Amino acid sequence: MASKISAVILSLSFFSSFVAISSQNDEYDPTIKTMEQFSGYQIHDSISSLSVHTQNLQRQIDELSSFSDTPAPSVTRVLYSEKDVLARGYIKKLMGLSGLSVREDAVGNIFGRWVGSQPELAPVLTGSHIDAIPYSGKYDGVVGVLGAIEAINVLKRSGFKPKRSLEVIMFTSEEPTRFGISCLGSRLLAGSEELKELLKKTVDSQNISFSDAATFAGYTLNEDLSSVFLEKGSYSAFIELHIEQGPILEEEGISIGIVTAIAAPASIKVDFEGNGGHAGAVLMPKRNDAGLAAAELALAVEKHVLESGSIDTVGTVGILELHPGAINSIPSKSHLEIDTRDIDEKRRNLVIEKIHKSALRISKSREVNLSEFKIVNQDPPALSEDSIIEATESACQELKLSYKKMISRAYHDSLFMARISPMGMIFIPCYKGYSHKPEEFAAPEDVANGVKVLALTLGKLSLS
Ligand code: GLV
Ligand code: MN
Ligand code: MN
Repeated sequence: MASKISAVILSLSFFSSFVAISSQNDEYDPTIKTMEQFSGYQIHDSISSLSVHTQNLQRQIDELSSFSDTPAPSVTRVLYSEKDVLARGYIKKLMGLSGLSVREDAVGNIFGRWVGSQPELAPVLTGSHIDAIPYSGKYDGVVGVLGAIEAINVLKRSGFKPKRSLEVIMFTSEEPTRFGISCLGSRLLAGSEELKELLKKTVDSQNISFSDAATFAGYTLNEDLSSVFLEKGSYSAFIELHIEQGPILEEEGISIGIVTAIAAPASIKVDFEGNGGHAGAVLMPKRNDAGLAAAELALAVEKHVLESGSIDTVGTVGILELHPGAINSIPSKSHLEIDTRDIDEKRRNLVIEKIHKSALRISKSREVNLSEFKIVNQDPPALSEDSIIEATESACQELKLSYKKMISRAYHDSLFMARISPMGMIFIPCYKGYSHKPEEFAAPEDVANGVKVLALTLGKLSLS
């Protein structure tokens, strides 16, 4: 691992020199004028110093995607894996190169702060995640971390001096891949006692405990995890830049989405157990097939979601495992993981109740044991703060970028940051709305637009 880490450091030093060289090449950017107007600072006349360094940012996105456990163009980067550790090193290095003072909390949420002229005021926070679900793409989350660091660079190059400190965060494990817990870092930051307790006994599919996995990544969890909790009001604002993960902005030719609310996600784990047996010898009337129980429940999930009558209700069985997994053995165990979401929390909860009733009915009719029905999380939706929406809206207007207010159907760390801080989100278009698959793509100019809007919004929030 040490040699891989030195390779990363070497490539980063190459990067840092490239940043300096290529700054000459970026084109004129309207951010210059706007920054002068709103910050009140005279911007020195080097036009290039204010531009988003689009090519460098794209190079960083590409470089980060190489820390993956599956071949390009797919990205797989799971919490506390070797690749995650390398990627974390990469982010810390970039934060350092941007002059941020870097710290990490006990679970590895990484913070990089630019101290403002009034450091006693609550800072403004921005960031996202870099973990990637199996066989996904290179933009989800990454744009909001690398883009945030670049937004700080844009502000620094402009001569802007923050009043409130500005801070970039890389959240630990937004994706639930390894331990089945989504937004693990931000849930803890928001003070989830329940999660703190749960993590003491959480193991992954290989039976590795959360604590051992964290130790592998360099985080020793012997301290009380409540050290991660943040007081409400620790930040004056939190804002996250992210790809839309839906098709609306691209289809409508709009540059920026301003998120007004995040849909309410829930996830459920279900286990059925039957007697299994020989696929040839056990006759059909004698079977209690745990696999068919799972299949029937998967169809019931779809039915209950559609019964809601709203296009906003969605449900997915993303994991379905059969044991022992042999063609000539009747499944004796099945395991399903169900994701269901809605912008209407009550309607989403009704779907969960119906899924539970169906699981009970199926277990009875198929004479299998429903050995687990566990609601892993059942989160409420979150609303963005008006003042952050307004700051983002005026940034778009000043930059002459088209924008649209929209809801986020995907969840984000913002959902949990909203519990302790005023929250807002900036979306950029992505190709055909693709996400969570290798084809995920955002055009460099769209990423650059997002960074500009983020930089201006951060500037405004820092001075407010
Ligand atoms: C986030 O990754 C989500 O599944 O919405
Ligand atoms: Mn994701
Ligand atoms: Mn994401």
